[in-house]
Amino acid sequence: MPITLLSSPLQGFTDFRFRNAFHHYFGGIDTFYAPYIKMNGKMVIKNNYKRDLNPENNTVPDLIPQVMTNNPDEFVFALNYVKSLGYKELNWNLGCPYPMVTKQGMGSGMICNPQKIDEVLEKAHRESDMTISMKMRMGYEEPTEILKTFETLKKYPLKNIAIHARIGKQLYKGGVDLDAFEKCLDQSPHKLYYNGDITSVEAFKKIQNRFPSVENFMIGRGLISDPFLPSMIKNNTTEYPENRWQIFKEFHDTIYQQYDEALSGPTPIKMKMLGFWEYFSQSFDDPKKIYKAIKKNGSARNYRATVNAIFAKQQ
Ligand SMILES: Cc1cc2nc3c(=O)[nH]c(=O)nc-3n(C[C@H](O)[C@H](O)[C@H](O)COP(=O)(O)O)c2cc1C
Repeated sequence: MPITLLSSPLQGFTDFRFRNAFHHYFGGIDTFYAPYIKMNGKMVIKNNYKRDLNPENNTVPDLIPQVMTNNPDEFVFALNYVKSLGYKELNWNLGCPYPMVTKQGMGSGMICNPQKIDEVLEKAHRESDMTISMKMRMGYEEPTEILKTFETLKKYPLKNIAIHARIGKQLYKGGVDLDAFEKCLDQSPHKLYYNGDITSVEAFKKIQNRFPSVENFMIGRGLISDPFLPSMIKNNTTEYPENRWQIFKEFHDTIYQQYDEALSGPTPIKMKMLGFWEYFSQSFDDPKKIYKAIKKNGSARNYRATVNAIFAKQQ
């Protein structure tokens, strides 16, 4: 059965610069999700979201915008905005686990509130012809919360529900709960996409073997830790290309240059790249050592020299 691989959105990482370069150098991803847009009660789309979704800035073949809100008016505003840019689908984030969000009844803090979910979806479907999909955890307190939303969700022609197989209060700790995901598969009125901890070809195969009916898999952190993972899954191989490190370095240099141009001052670019290296370092034999080497760089010149030395050692 042909499978589809989707890039799970990572706020602060998978913006248009990352997505474009990723697609160019590594491939393997069929559809990219943009990190969520959030309006905080104002009917205004911030400039950084505008830049990220501007079709002129995006060269990947398929991009789906995402919104995080619990407000029907905001949701419809976001639908109209992304429609005006030419998008056909909006994804709704009911997965974010952070207390700042969940305490306001958004993200995974909304899963226990089917009535509120209903209000948003009812208005959205009444006022817009856009396709709507969802991305959810299985609950905040309990993985059974999601099952109680299915009664509501079945009223609407959602394209799919992508499920990160954790609950909100776990944040990113502990494992994914595959037994609970199986219950979702048994009971969901909609097509489900699987998401969570696909970090290797082996991990992917385990999930695929356990859930042979699932055709769509979302990869988040695994895609930054090992950018070759999607194409290796697609090619059913654990072999890296011969020029693995050359490709990786070219990719690094491309995004570094672009972030360096976009961010002003030495600290923001340093923090940006350090964030990436928390994940990139996983591709190397001694991740801690690599991360430490990057972290201790003071200047841009030192940073570039360290990166060059790290990649030179791999050739
Ligand atoms: C730094 C970070 C930012 C994230 N940003 C988003 C986001 O904007 N939208 C969203 O739906 N999920 C977001 N997520 C969740 C991921 O998309 C994904 O569901 C989660 O990491 C589990 O998948 P993985 O194990 O493949 O990473 C984020 C996760 C992390 C770690």
